[in-house]
Parts: sequence; C-alpha cells; structure tokens
Amino acid sequence: MEKVCEISDIPKGTMKGFTVKDKQILVANVDGNFYAMGAICSHMHGYLPSGTLERNIVICPVHRAQFDVTSGKVSKNVSGAMRLIIGGAKDMQTYKISMKENQIYVDL
Ligand code: FES
Repeated sequence: MEKVCEISDIPKGTMKGFTVKDKQILVANVDGNFYAMGAICSHMHGYLPSGTLERNIVICPVHRAQFDVTSGKVSKNVSGAMRLIIGGAKDMQTYKISMKENQIYVDL
C-alpha cells in the first residue's frame, strides 16, 4: 500500500491527480467514499483529473468520454464517428483504496 494524501485533501464531490510510484492515478471522493483509477484517459491520453466529476462519473476534458470511477468502466464513449476513425475509450484500471489515521493509501 502506498500513501497518497490526507483524506481532507479531497473534499466530497472532488477528485485529484497524483503520481505514486511512477503511476499517474486519480482519487475521487463520491459521497464520502474514495475510489482510485488511472489518471490518463484510455482514449488519447487526456488528463482525467483536469476533467469533471459528476457524482461517480469522470468526464475526460479532451473528447468527453465518461468513466465510472467506482468500476473503471466506460459509461459513455466518444462519438461514433470518432470511434470509427481513431478508436474509442476502453475501461480504466482501478486501484484498491484503504484509509488509516486520516491518510489515503492505494494498492498499486
Ligand atoms: S482523450 Fe479522453 S476522450 Fe479522448
């Protein structure tokens, strides 16, 4: 388990990006529950922490693919035309979170 940040660093309804052991991850706070997944969009490398978090859905800032941060699954892919030309987003890797003494840890 690798230490990521303090619980208070990520208020409810927000997400933040971190580099932990050379991996770029994002941690999101959905109604007081924390979830971690990769920070780099599986479509064309958009930086997901710069996107939007709507409840449990992370929206990529580049082409607006949507991912469920609780599962890493694509909940809405890029447009059909774009998928045809350059391919679509794929499910993201998620990481197990644990908390101890106000700190968030992730299992990479
Ligand atoms: S880079 Fe994220 S949707 Fe295209």
